[in-house]
Amino acid sequence: APQSVIGQDSVQVFGQSYPRDDFTNVTPKILEKVGRNLHNQSHHPLWLIKERIKAHFYSSFVGRSGNPLFSVHDNLSPVVTTEQNFDSLLIPPGHPSRKRGDNYYLNRATMLRAHTSAHQRDLVRSGLDAFLLAGDVYRRDEIDASHYPVFHQMEGVRLFSNRQLFSRVQNGGELSLFERGGRRSPEKQETHTLEAVKLVEFDLKRTLTQLVSYLFGADLEIRWVDCYFPFTHPSFEMEVRFQGDWMEVLGCGVMEQELLNSAGAGDKLGWAFGLGLERLAMVLYSIPDIRLFWSRDERFLKQFRVQDIHQPVCFQLLSKYPPLHNDISFWLPDGKESEAGRESFTENDFYELVRSIGGDLVEKVSLVDNFTHPKTGRRSQCYRIIYRHMERTLTQQEVRRVHQQIEQAAESELGVQGRF
Ligand code: PHE
Repeated sequence: APQSVIGQDSVQVFGQSYPRDDFTNVTPKILEKVGRNLHNQSHHPLWLIKERIKAHFYSSFVGRSGNPLFSVHDNLSPVVTTEQNFDSLLIPPGHPSRKRGDNYYLNRATMLRAHTSAHQRDLVRSGLDAFLLAGDVYRRDEIDASHYPVFHQMEGVRLFSNRQLFSRVQNGGELSLFERGGRRSPEKQETHTLEAVKLVEFDLKRTLTQLVSYLFGADLEIRWVDCYFPFTHPSFEMEVRFQGDWMEVLGCGVMEQELLNSAGAGDKLGWAFGLGLERLAMVLYSIPDIRLFWSRDERFLKQFRVQDIHQPVCFQLLSKYPPLHNDISFWLPDGKESEAGRESFTENDFYELVRSIGGDLVEKVSLVDNFTHPKTGRRSQCYRIIYRHMERTLTQQEVRRVHQQIEQAAESELGVQGRF
């Protein structure tokens, strides 16, 4: 049963019903994606990057008793209130980012989150000082090689008390996080001291630089660009050099104090970042098209099934070379012949045999006919094997050779009788 329904008067998502109004603009196609949770599918490339980022933070930042400093949240519902997505982040009414044309609204009060920042205030309010948060985010957009209306972000937040920030500084006890009567400048917010902000900004940039060098290796060229977000100041974007061009991979900054005040953490300073998981994965694995992340094609998915998340993945483009197919039919061994302790024939035995002989030339094997002789009761099966090479066009002749090897091996190893 579908978990999301767009009805006449209401939209249902995850068993909750939201009354429609003049803002409702979610579509069935988009709701199909809600709950797919690519970032939680084992060995999906987005999962793999998320796991690597987690592993990096777990090993680089440990608390006083060796516990991970950052908690990880990857299962928060993408259905949020507009208050969470905008107001909690000091995004004013009428701000262009609220446009109906740019977001997916269930109604005026509820939407599919447009960024993982929508949860910042609530997680800080729950008492967390350091957390990572991964999730699917939704923005109305064209679909092309680098834009898709659903993508995934990883948010990170870290807060510092006076003691935590200045403990590493000589005579740090004399410094303070806040000042009265200060002015907002390009460097800092009005209530922050310059020395506190510079330490937070330095920690933020160092944390993110270390993260990308861990993901990509130390050779990656990066640069920082000043920018603007309503919920951070100062704010920065990190760009990485990819195929000769600079590509934006994350936004970050020193959290607006008003946000922390509203979350009950007014005695701390913090940084936050939000990075695009698809962007990182595309650079890391040279994946040319963002639509591939939604592929259920084994030829795509199987390339990321590494034993160890730290093992490098060498992604190969899916073949555009033409497929060739060949059928194979045989009588199954009957009961009597397989008495001698041998298991009788199973379909999986045949799939495995084809894979072991055909290797990567075999794209797909499917059972196309299963027939029982009405008089003798003998069973016969026919399989279709689709052959395709990743890098060149196969010839009939070379496919024929592999196919014949499979026919022979089926007879000798599986005890079937060919009808070749
Ligand atoms: N939420 C911002 C975006 O989606 C990224 C961001 C996160 C910026 C946290 C600053 C701090 O573009």
